[in-house]
Amino acid sequence: MRSWNAESYDRVSGPQLAMGRDVVERLPLDGDETVLDAGCGTGRVTALLLERLPRGRVIAVDASPDMVATARANLPESVDVRRADLADFALEEPVDAVLSTATFHWVPDHDALFARLAAALEPGGRLEAQCGGEGNVARLHAVARAVGGAAFEGWPGPWNFSSAELAAERLRRHGFDEVRTWLEPRPVRPEEPREFLRTVVLHPFLARLPEGEREPFLEGVIDRLGEPIELDYVRLNLSARRAT
Ligand SMILES: C[S@@+](CC[C@H](N)C(=O)[O-])C[C@H]1O[C@@H](n2cnc3c(N)ncnc32)[C@H](O)[C@@H]1O
Repeated sequence: MRSWNAESYDRVSGPQLAMGRDVVERLPLDGDETVLDAGCGTGRVTALLLERLPRGRVIAVDASPDMVATARANLPESVDVRRADLADFALEEPVDAVLSTATFHWVPDHDALFARLAAALEPGGRLEAQCGGEGNVARLHAVARAVGGAAFEGWPGPWNFSSAELAAERLRRHGFDEVRTWLEPRPVRPEEPREFLRTVVLHPFLARLPEGEREPFLEGVIDRLGEPIELDYVRLNLSARRAT
């Protein structure tokens, strides 16, 4: 998924920022490392990472032109912001660590993704990541499919919500050790539910509908979800080391 409304995401991604903070905090850093933020979005989590690197450097990569432009505008000049597909990219020099938040489930091919990330890391370098995992927003998607009816029949969607076991096996296969993966239920109550659904979770559904059907669809989903709107987020945490 490369098509994002960066201006809206920057405003409503408070829940992603809160979840991202936990991942940034668990990355072991001395402060002088070079770290890759894989799927930087508008750079809100990248800015938290920067705070932990007073003598270090950040390379921030994202596939969406809008996200890259907004991250470039939001982040200090020192951050190396690049547009690239994480399943098909390479760095000139390996980095000391990789951070990634709320991104891997948007990448269909996790084998290609983990192989690229392993290649981008120094031997012994750490990967700390979190993304949507098995069962993520399952209730919301069921509601969206019920409201959309025939429009979404047989459509698998772009998401790759991996199980913890499969993610661990894949990481080991692609050159990682000290692998730990686990699912974490993380219910989200967005402050602006309509905008959050439109921009963050339902945009692949909306993109499949003709313009005139989008708002009624959104309305139908909101009605069925009932008050208060709580989204059944389930995060997949990934912690690993590039084998030496
Ligand atoms: C939900 S945003 C997360 C942004 C940020 N890390 C955060 O936590 O707020 C997901 C991001 O992944 C990016 N993305 C999706 N697939 C990608 C790919 N194959 N390569 C690079 N970036 C990708 C999207 O463009 C989007 O900016």
